[in-house]
Amino acid sequence: MPLLTMKDICKSFSGVYANDHINLSIEEGEIHALLGENGAGKTTLVNILYGLYEADSGEIFWNGEKASFRSPADAIRAGIGMVQQHFSLVRNMTVLDNVILNLPGNAAFLKRKEAGEKFARLAAAHGLLVDPGAVVADLTVGEQQRVEILKALYRNVKLLILDEPTAVLTPQETVNLFQVLRSLAGEGYAIIIITHRLSEIMEVTDRVSILRSGRKVAELDTASTDVHELSRHMIGHDIDEMPPPDIPPREAPMLRLDSVSLERKRLAQPLHDIRFSIRKGEILGVAGVEGNGQKELAEVICGIRRHTSGTIFLEDADISHLGVRPRYEAGIAYISDDRQGDGLVPDMNITENLALRAYGKPPMARHGLVDARAMSKVAAEKTQEYQVLASGRSGAATPVRLLSGGNQQKLIIARELEEGGKLIVACQPTRGLDIGASEFVHQKLRAWRDAGKSVLLISADLEEIRMLSDRVAVLFGGRVVGVLTREEASVQALGLLMGGVTAAAAEGAGA
Ligand SMILES: Nc1ncnc2c1ncn2[C@@H]1O[C@H](COP(=O)(O)OP(=O)(O)OP(=O)(O)O)[C@@H](O)[C@H]1O
Ligand SMILES: [Mg+2]
Repeated sequence: MPLLTMKDICKSFSGVYANDHINLSIEEGEIHALLGENGAGKTTLVNILYGLYEADSGEIFWNGEKASFRSPADAIRAGIGMVQQHFSLVRNMTVLDNVILNLPGNAAFLKRKEAGEKFARLAAAHGLLVDPGAVVADLTVGEQQRVEILKALYRNVKLLILDEPTAVLTPQETVNLFQVLRSLAGEGYAIIIITHRLSEIMEVTDRVSILRSGRKVAELDTASTDVHELSRHMIGHDIDEMPPPDIPPREAPMLRLDSVSLERKRLAQPLHDIRFSIRKGEILGVAGVEGNGQKELAEVICGIRRHTSGTIFLEDADISHLGVRPRYEAGIAYISDDRQGDGLVPDMNITENLALRAYGKPPMARHGLVDARAMSKVAAEKTQEYQVLASGRSGAATPVRLLSGGNQQKLIIARELEEGGKLIVACQPTRGLDIGASEFVHQKLRAWRDAGKSVLLISADLEEIRMLSDRVAVLFGGRVVGVLTREEASVQALGLLMGGVTAAAAEGAGA
């Protein structure tokens, strides 16, 4: 008897099926992947299981009995836990307080000390290291995810759902997570994992269900399939090979950082004496284990944080003292890796989010006055070009919190790749995007580069870095420990530098 059976699950939003008669069964000890393009219905299906959405029709059997979970609290009580695509931690509370928040029944009265001990035991047993006393807002995205997993484990779940867990992880963290998942499965836990990375499915799962436009189109044994078959089921064709960059960068620097440092300010990884330049027509990749200063570097360049010494030049102009808005107007665009934090305003609609940056300028405004018609026109064009899909009738009037994760990301990119821009600081630009959408974003970044503009590409995905970058800078402990050419940037060379092995740095640094 399967641990879980979902039968004929249907769910529609404004008349459009997000889940169309979906069947799914999971055994104890099984790691089951849900695969599908952005908007295929994966998150919707697990939201139904977790009691966040109510299915229009269909049945759920849990431990052989018909069940219906009306809230996450219901699902958790039954033994189903979920780490959502967008975390739901209370940002101004500590890690431990988040973990023990809203515990049902007696557990809530467990003494703090005992709670701390249980937390430490779980954390150590599963290699989920995070400081229980830290405030969540101070944590990296990866650390926050560990807290979410611990929170579920703390509640003794039997089935753990992870919605795109690796999208926020470094390669090393992903390896660790997979070890955790395998050991949990070995102990009889069942796991549902949503990921767009086919190699991860091959590596860690037992079975795969593939969704397409709300329908389940295939269920396969991982051992008897391969990435090509998965891709064919998902998008209807094989994965395309990426062409290497072929246009040599022009010589003139677009952006130059001269001895830029950020002394420790609250919440920041300090940056030490950063020197590099990005040429016009160049993509400079930034590799590094998350938390080594990538975010701070991006924010210092965009003006969100003010560096404490050194100089930043855009073309020949010293922009060190400019704030965020003037830097944007000077041509610096920003794709933040925190979609719902500083990327988008969740309660505003698509049109408004697209206009966030440029509402004061033509074509969105005339004589300084916002032109609603023009705004709608821009929104219609951009959503079409970037294939931002909103279900139902409201179209561009849809609040962005209702978009799937991938569609939110496309929206940010559509807004930031503006015509007047010169440099785009792109943090994890394809995180959470399906293969087709990732290819599309890569094309856009290449086109931007080929037009003589510049890209600073910060990514935890080494393959992405190597595929797109003309040169790769490696950050470690807030320092640039090496700048490698395309040819030098093998996975091995990057891996060593990312791990702080800086023997190679002497040759590479100072570009
Ligand atoms: N609360 C909601 N209101 C309206 N439409 C919704 C809602 N939740 C999901 N949808 C729509 O249902 C469809 C499926 O979305 P879902 O979030 O399940 O996709 P997904 O497969 O998880 O995609 P992604 O890979 O981009 O995260 C999308 O068209 C989405 O816009
Ligand atoms: Mg999703």
